Amino acid sequence: MTKIDILDQIALGDCLELFPRVPDNSIRTIHTSPPYNIEKDYKGYNDNLIVRDYLDFIEKVLSECMRSLVPGGSLFWQTGYTTDQEEYITPLDHLTYHLFQKLGFRLKDRIIWRYWGGMAFKAKFTNKHETILWWVKPGQSSTQSKFDVFPVREATKFYDSRNNLFGRNPGNVWEVDRVAFGSNGQTSHIAVFPEEISDRIILSTTDENDVVLDPFSGSGTVCKIAKARGRHFIGFEISPLYHKESIQRLSLQARGELLSVLSEILKEHVFGAVGTRKFSAIEDKIMNLLSPFSLEPYEDIIKKSYLDALCAGHEDVVKKSDKIKLWNALEELLPDFGSNKSSKDSVGLISLIDRAYMRAFKLHKAYSSAMRFYCAANWLAILQSNLARDRKAGWEKILTSIAESETGTYCLTEDKISIISHSKKVKIVTVDPTFSEDSQENLTTQQLFR
Ligand SMILES: C[S@@+](CC[C@H](N)C(=O)[O-])C[C@H]1O[C@@H](n2cnc3c(N)ncnc32)[C@H](O)[C@@H]1O
Repeated sequence: MTKIDILDQIALGDCLELFPRVPDNSIRTIHTSPPYNIEKDYKGYNDNLIVRDYLDFIEKVLSECMRSLVPGGSLFWQTGYTTDQEEYITPLDHLTYHLFQKLGFRLKDRIIWRYWGGMAFKAKFTNKHETILWWVKPGQSSTQSKFDVFPVREATKFYDSRNNLFGRNPGNVWEVDRVAFGSNGQTSHIAVFPEEISDRIILSTTDENDVVLDPFSGSGTVCKIAKARGRHFIGFEISPLYHKESIQRLSLQARGELLSVLSEILKEHVFGAVGTRKFSAIEDKIMNLLSPFSLEPYEDIIKKSYLDALCAGHEDVVKKSDKIKLWNALEELLPDFGSNKSSKDSVGLISLIDRAYMRAFKLHKAYSSAMRFYCAANWLAILQSNLARDRKAGWEKILTSIAESETGTYCLTEDKISIISHSKKVKIVTVDPTFSEDSQENLTTQQLFR
């Protein structure tokens, strides 16, 4: 990958001034919501330009998007409408369509984000949707943009043997609740994206280690999700307040799914509350929780029912009867998740991982049981192999990675790791390295963020 000096950062400033630091052909996916020019009270930005200036600005931004995307890369451009004095509307995609065309973008899809909530209108129907335009940069070698539906399949409401066991393609009307102002406790931003929307876009159009960009990053939702999914990210934000809050928000987010899941296990099953533990104590506890482990009792169900084949995309090799058998078998297993079974029991272990996985990615509650089981079993296998490969060095490395990528939650001091906050709200504290394990009294305030 070309070296990018602002990789994995949200940079403060005007996106047009920061864009030149992004190399040509380096970004796999851009997901963004530009200002709509509707006099919104963004802290530090004038959202009321005359139309010609607004279009001029948008054209410059689009031109930079085109330059920085890889051929075949995607631009998800979230848009709404402007209103005039009499509240007649002009759809922004209509107003800007010719700019995309002029620059050579190709429109791949038009996604409707249908939401609930919002202020009721008096003189017409209340607005309940926004549009997300999926534009693609054409390329010589790759005329096709990346799209993988598997990780974003959603659970079907009713069981039917004709359905894909792992859920259905979510379609292009996305019903997702808006983020109520102030509801996530992490930001004062007035227009936060639902994480689910970014998650869907990032999972289906990028691979791990690809770079995701949001030139209007606001509260940092796109960057946060990219980080959690093990993608690189770049964000630009002009408001110093939103910039500061978004960096704090990201400090509570582990990098990559494995680290997120492990972090949840640490919080819930090793620590329980804020406190400090030695690496060695954590290793013992985790070894105790996770081993001995055997998927053997479930191998018949998982393997013989062609789960692997399904995951590899060979859905046609699965007979209808096998689907029903596997579906029923998994349904029988899943109710045990969360029961009081011993953690040494395999179902208990998968349950542990499943709950950690769900907590780390609340968005996945829509997953079908087959998908959840697959993910949980998969994570368990990865954890097992990490443990087997190099117990001591492996765990030390993993714990260090967790602490370094979730600085708002953990603090690392020599051979100890401390949890300084379970809550979503960022607390800026660090730990006196000399204090005893489990003590909470010795926390002292200090800047932790990089
Ligand atoms: C619609 S909001 C984005 C919200 C974001 N998607 C989220 O989830 O929080 C647009 C953001 O762009 C920022 N902004 C406006 N003009 C900008 C510019 N020229 N460069 C960088 N950021 C800008 C505003 O401060 C605002 O936070």
